[in-house]
Amino acid sequence: MMPTPSTVAAPAAASRYDRTTIVLHWLTALLVLTLFTLAMLWDFAPRDTRKQMQSLHISLGIVLAVVVAVRLAWRATRGRRLPLAVAGLQGKAAKAVHYLLYLLLATQVVLGFSWRWAQAEAFQFFGLFPLRFADVGNKPLAHTLGDLHDAVGWTIVIVAGLHAAMALVHHYVLKDGVLRRMLVGSGT
Ligand code: HEM
Ligand code: HEM
Repeated sequence: MMPTPSTVAAPAAASRYDRTTIVLHWLTALLVLTLFTLAMLWDFAPRDTRKQMQSLHISLGIVLAVVVAVRLAWRATRGRRLPLAVAGLQGKAAKAVHYLLYLLLATQVVLGFSWRWAQAEAFQFFGLFPLRFADVGNKPLAHTLGDLHDAVGWTIVIVAGLHAAMALVHHYVLKDGVLRRMLVGSGT
């Protein structure tokens, strides 16, 4: 029997991501914002504070690496994947931006670890225990990795900023359910 209009599934934009995906999404956003803010502010801090901020950046960077890995594994296995919220080119562009963000995050984690490794400077993981990296003694490599990490960091913040702006346009201007897909609430 053909479904009557009332039994047809709700439009894609009205459904939600599962709770784990939503928590991981906002945790990622919070970590990225904190990591970037720390990096923007530490140049203005006295030496000791600067070192502590850099140590915190790296500790949180390790947390981000775990969160991104868990998120990708969850998405690939049990996470709910919704159909495009908007049909056509706009929906495809949104999806491309999402994949770009995953790619940039993974790249940034690799660059962050490689940079620290090339810097060969010991640091504390949340002040709990020291982590030491091999002394590769390669200053030009460290310099290049640093420049790349800086550039990718800015790119992430700009792309994520545009992505967030689009989500707000959907919510306040177009008034569709796109932002609600990524918010915990009642219903599916
Ligand atoms: C999206 C996440 C991240 C953003 C936006 C970000 C951004 C930045 C920025 C803008 C800097 C300053 C660059 C400069 O001074 O030229 C920096 C430094 C650094 N970041 Fe990240 N970063 C992120 C994740 C990570 C991760 C995952 C690690 C891994 C351990 C990491 C390790 C480092 C290191 C070692 C430094 C140099 C600190 C120092 O000079 O001692 N970052 N980051
Ligand atoms: C650094 C910050 C952020 C990053 C890295 C990020 C990353 C992502 C990624 C990768 C997805 C795709 C989820 C998937 O299907 O696998 C996504 C979806 C989404 N994000 Fe973000 N996001 C960030 C910040 C924000 C902010 C601030 C907002 C809201 C103001 C937002 C709203 C959304 C919404 C509504 C979706 C679902 C879109 C849809 O269903 O088509 N994001 N985000």
